[in-house]
Amino acid sequence: MTEPIIVQKKPHVLELDAGSYYWCACGRSKNPPFCDGSHQGTGLEPIHFELSEPTKVWLCGCKHSARPPFCDGAHKRL
Ligand code: FES
Ligand code: FES
Repeated sequence: MTEPIIVQKKPHVLELDAGSYYWCACGRSKNPPFCDGSHQGTGLEPIHFELSEPTKVWLCGCKHSARPPFCDGAHKRL
């Protein structure tokens, strides 16, 4: 399996509307932090998550979080 690319060593802090989202796990998306299909052939897959109401989120930008799609502080050790 291909290693993910570190997009940034900090989270993407976003105010998202309620809805269904696919977080990019591979780091190759041209629309980070969301999947745009660029993971094809890497063996990596996006992580799906849903929000039931408008929510402020801290989405992992380093792709090394142990609880994706959310930042768990792992970027501080990279
Ligand atoms: Fe990265 Fe889909 S583009 S997981
Ligand atoms: Fe990846 Fe914080 S940005 S763990």
